[in-house]
Parts: sequence; structure tokens; C-alpha cells
Amino acid sequence: MISVKKIADELLFTLSTNNSSYQMKADQYGVLLHLFYGKKLNDADDLSSLIFMTDMGFCGNPACVGKNRIYSLDNLPQEVSGFGTGDYRDSMVALLHEDGSRAAEFRFDSYEILDGSYKVDGMPALYDTSVTKGETLIITMREVASEVWLKLYYGVYEKENIITRAAKIINKGQRNITVERLLSMNLDMMFFDPDMIYFTGRHAFERAPERVPVKHAKIEVGSVRGTSSHQYNPSFILCDHNANEEFGNCYGFCLAYSGNFIAAAQKDQKNQVRVQMGIHPNGFSYLLNQDEELMTPQVIMSFSDSGFTTLSQQYHDILRENMCRGKYKHEKRPVLINNWEATYFDFNGEKLIHIAKQASELGIEMLVLDDGWFGKRDDDFSGLGDWFVNEKKLEGTLKQLGESVNAMGMKFGLWFEPEMISEDSDLYREHPEWALAIPGREPNRGRYQLTLDMSRADVRDYLLGRMTDILSSAPIMYVKWDLNRSICDMYSHVSGKEHSGELYHKYVLGVYDLLERLLKRFPDLLIEGCSGGGGRFDAGMLYYSPQIWCSDNTDAINRLTIQYGTSFFYPISSVGSHVSACPNHQTGRTVPFQTRGDVAMAGSFGYELDLGKISEEEKEQVKKQVDRFHAFYNLTHEGDYYRLTTLENNDSCMAWAFVAKDKSEAMLTLVKTQSEGNPVPTHVFMKGLDPDKNYKCIIKDDTSVINSGSAFVNAGITIPSVMMQYESVIIRFEEAL
Ligand code: GLA
Repeated sequence: MISVKKIADELLFTLSTNNSSYQMKADQYGVLLHLFYGKKLNDADDLSSLIFMTDMGFCGNPACVGKNRIYSLDNLPQEVSGFGTGDYRDSMVALLHEDGSRAAEFRFDSYEILDGSYKVDGMPALYDTSVTKGETLIITMREVASEVWLKLYYGVYEKENIITRAAKIINKGQRNITVERLLSMNLDMMFFDPDMIYFTGRHAFERAPERVPVKHAKIEVGSVRGTSSHQYNPSFILCDHNANEEFGNCYGFCLAYSGNFIAAAQKDQKNQVRVQMGIHPNGFSYLLNQDEELMTPQVIMSFSDSGFTTLSQQYHDILRENMCRGKYKHEKRPVLINNWEATYFDFNGEKLIHIAKQASELGIEMLVLDDGWFGKRDDDFSGLGDWFVNEKKLEGTLKQLGESVNAMGMKFGLWFEPEMISEDSDLYREHPEWALAIPGREPNRGRYQLTLDMSRADVRDYLLGRMTDILSSAPIMYVKWDLNRSICDMYSHVSGKEHSGELYHKYVLGVYDLLERLLKRFPDLLIEGCSGGGGRFDAGMLYYSPQIWCSDNTDAINRLTIQYGTSFFYPISSVGSHVSACPNHQTGRTVPFQTRGDVAMAGSFGYELDLGKISEEEKEQVKKQVDRFHAFYNLTHEGDYYRLTTLENNDSCMAWAFVAKDKSEAMLTLVKTQSEGNPVPTHVFMKGLDPDKNYKCIIKDDTSVINSGSAFVNAGITIPSVMMQYESVIIRFEEAL
């Protein structure tokens, strides 16, 4: 709910969800002050009295307050902060005016309330469904000395406990302005001494949580790689120092954007925490002529006063329902086999048919043909950009291959890396100017490849044309959309030098545009996002691809950490996860086949190994795993997810559970990560069951016991047998009437 109260010459705005409130005030000077974000307030509450003003010294006073020395933009909690006019903390907006001055100071002008969610120009945003509908508050702010307007967007999703923010800047003046920094949000939290949890990593080891106290030295993470990156995810949590899965105040911030970003928290001199998130200002500057505007990506915020589990579930629900789109948002996605780790580039038509045949006999439902089917592409030195089928290698057309796969009762999917170009390609020979490279410099290569200038319409048209041809030539229902390098050497031959600071952003807009047009042409296509695994695992990509290949690391034990970190924000249905061969290709570790299946099942499930090389017993396991995946699909893809163990306290096992929304059934997975001689029992506390319901608890499909939900949650479950290292167990709970 959005409520606005006029009190004298001030306006009090309160955004309420079922469990949270967000309050701000346009004060008598038009400054938009942040008053509170946290547990739900009463309707009549006005937190203006929390604001404490004193002359702190060296904190100047805006002209509008006259001789009042205690009113300073430098220490008031604000919703927008500008550069150059007396707030010396980090700014949300920085403007360069035509006369060379740098100043941005915004005052309240007006507001409007819209029924429904707002859209973000050219970018993903939460949208309304029949189940969930947002409300929008738009506050229009006006720059004090130029004709620059700033619209602040607030989205409210009541029962989901979600509030979103975005901003749009509009140049209504006759003079050009350059936007040097425009973040999606600024939030100054007054009485809060939090930890920050961000998610860090590297290629093949993404999204490990790190938790640090927020102090006066800034904690800032981000990416200038052109993509959201493996190294830092565009999501973070601020929480009480003692917050854990079930306890404590915590706030989530998640940016629906797939390019350069920053996320920062820092205490100011008054111990208020300034929180910021948005497009990274490095390399960013945006020229706005008269009547031109620029909108930021959307930040999705959520609050829980009962720890991380609730916070994560709120994100899972909203992203699954209001960010993911298309046929496969809820429809069952096929269990796939991907040929990459089975063959790498070394395949031909016969091998692929053989893989498909073996897979179909085991119940696998889709063959995904990975890298190497196009142009001259037998290694990663060449071919990217030449999206023409290599029929010689396939020993036939793509249509023939797709139809043969279909004839086995399987669907067919295909890998693309649209944004890239190899120097050894016909496309590069024809259009070297389409690749990002700065004239007079040798471009940096990544995996031997260069990046296409996705800000160019002709590049996108070419890609759309090629992909449309290929996708309409054969029965392809799935595309793996990959990107295998970080981006630099940003220069466009068509943009003009005054627009060079816009290119990173325009690259991202270009990618979104191409994805949108492709999906318009093929609305039922299932896209799996990928960037060397999870290098672009963000809420923005989920708008186009309801699943994303989580990591190039398929080691089930490393995946415990990677999937654990991913689960804080992203729904389990979005986590691409496969059973692969052992010794594992990335780590050399050998893990039981069952464990590999159980870990992959906490995601969008598939296989990525040579089925010809596994034993008969393992083949039987594949059949069982596929059946089990189907049996549990509703739980894993639509149920509530619980982390039962933490990384910090992981002495000997990792465990998680899925509980049906109506609490009628549940499934718990436990993996023994360390073992010892003469072991103490393996024991785990369940979560999320209805304490008053009785459940039949079935361990490993053979032992069962009936007890109340309360008993399983409070007394836990002891695994009846000794568990060896890397062994896993699945425990099912069925409501016992
Ligand atoms: C990336 C992907 C892999 C595979 C290869 C193909 O690394 O993450 O899954 O598709 O590219 O080159």
C-alpha cells in the first residue's frame, strides 16, 4: 500500500507491504528525507522525530535554509544525493553542465501513484501477473538550477514483501548535460549497525558469501567487466550482526541488470549507513540533449525480520513469478543431456545420435548440442560469428539431426554465443569494425575471441537474422546463450566520441533488445543463460532465461558451496545443474553417482557426460534419478527452499530441503562432506514443516517413521546408517493423515 499524508508543508510517504514499511518525507525545503525501512509500522506512525539535527561543523547549509546552521545535506538521511552541492558523501547523481560546472541538487516537485508495476525502459523489471500486482509511486524531483528532472520510481508488492526502486533523469532544458553518475538508489539508514553479505568468486567458483561489518570505510563491490560477472554478484544483504537463517533483521538488494554495477554500504560521520546500488560510474557518462532521458535499472529490495530463510524465499517467489517469463516459467522443463563435457569439440553426427539414443533409453528428454556445430569451429580459436551449420561435421542438416532426436522421443536444443566474434571467421573478415577494438590499439583477447559491438543495430540485426534462420530450420526448442569473456576495449565506430561513455550500458541494452526480439519471434523458446557458467547470473537475465547455467564447475562437492551462495537470491528453478563424469573434469574428485544426481536435482536438472562410459548400475541410477526429478519437480521448482546447514558451521555435512507451499510434503537432501573413523551420528534438523501435522519420514526409500512436523524440526532426524564421505541421502516427508 502507498499512503501519502500532508502535514503542514511537508509530505509523508509510507510504502507498506505485509511485513515491512518504508517511510520518507518531502520536507519543507523539498528535500526527500529517508525516515525508515524495516518492520511494519502502524498506519498513523510518523517517524520524522527520528531525525536529529545539530551543527556538526564543516557541514554546510543549503541556501534555502537561510541562517539555519543545523540543517545540512551533508548529514541528513536522503533518498537522492547529488554531487557538488554540500553532501560530501558518495552521490547517487552527478551532473556535468554545459558551462563546465558539476552540481546536482534535487528538490521535491510532485508525485503520482499508479495502479500496477512500472516498466523500465529497455530493461527487465518486475511485471504484474494475475497472482501478483504491484503499485507504483513516482516522485518527481527538480534540479534547483537547471531544467533537469529526476523521477524516482518505487514499486510495492504487498504480500511478497518487496519494494523496488529505479530512477529516470530527463533533460528538459535547452542546454546539454552529461550524466556522470546515476545510480538506481540511495538509501541512508539512520539507526542500523549492520553486516554486509556479498557474493564473490571467480570463473568456476561463483557466489561464495562473505560477511563483513559495515564501518566507516566503504564496502563496495561491483563489476566493470561489461557483465554482472563471476567475481561479484549484483546482490547483497545488510543484516544485524547476529542475524542467521531464522533470526534477525535483514535487507536484500538485488539489481535487475546484467552489466557494470556497484553495490556499496558505508557509515557516515553520524553513523548512518549510506547504501547505494546501480550502474558502475567507471567508464560511464551519458549525454542528454534537450528532452532526452535516461532510466536506471531496477533494484529489488526486500526485508525480513526473521532471518535469511524468509528473505531468500521472498526473492525466490518474486523472481520466479514476476521476473521469469514465458512458457517454461512454470511448465516442466525437460531433463537434458549436454554433449560438452562428453565430447568437447570432438563430435560428429553419428556420435551425437549415439548420445541421444543412449540418453533416450534412460529417460532423458532433450539433447543439447553445445559449442562446435557451426562455421569452422573445432577448437576455440575460430568460427564465432559464423552462425551457419557445419553440415559436414554433423553429417547432415540440423533439421535431420533434430528430427532424428525427436524421433527418439527427445527434444533438441542448441548452443549459441551470439555476442562474440573470432578473428578467424568470415564475419570478422567481412566486418572487422563490428568487433570492439579501440583504433590504434591491439584489442585484448579473451578465450582468443573478441566481442561484438552490441550497441550497433546492424550487428543485432545480423545476429537476429542468423539465429532466426537456424531456429526455424530445425525443431529447436531450447537455446543455451553463452558469453565467454569479460568485455573491454569499448569503442564503437558508429556512436560518436561524445557518446563513448554510454557504450557499456548500450551494450547491455543491445543484448536485452536482441533477446527480446528473439523471444518475440520464438515465444516458446526456452533459453538457458550462461557466461562461462555463472558469469551473468543475475535477475536481469532471468527475464529472458528462466534458467542459467550456474557454474562451469560440475564437481558436486564444489557445487554445494556454489549453489548455496546462489540460493540466497535466486530461485532453485533457475539454477542449471548437471550430473557429470568422475574424476570430475574441473577438480579431479570422485563422488558417488547418486550424490552427483542429488546435488544436481537442486536445480534445473540434466546430464553432461559420456553415457557410454558409465556402468550398467549407474545407468539404472540415471533412470531412477530422472523419475525422481519428475516426482519432486513441483517441490524443487515451486516449493519453499530451506538451507538446513550453513557454510560456516559445516562440520561434516551440507543439507537443504524443499517444502510444498501447502506443507503437505517435503524433501530433504544431505551430503556428507567429511567423514571420520568410528563416527558420531549424522543428524539434521528439518525446517518448514507444519508443527501440527504428522508426517511420514522416509529415509533412503526404506526406513520410515511417523512423527509430527514439530518433532522433525525440533528434535531432528538421525540418519540410521554410517555415511561415508561424499555419500548423500534423500529424505522424504509425506503428510500422514
Ligand atoms: C562455456 C560454457 C560451457 C560450454 C563452453 C563451450 O564455458 O559455460 O558450458 O558451453 O562454453 O565453449
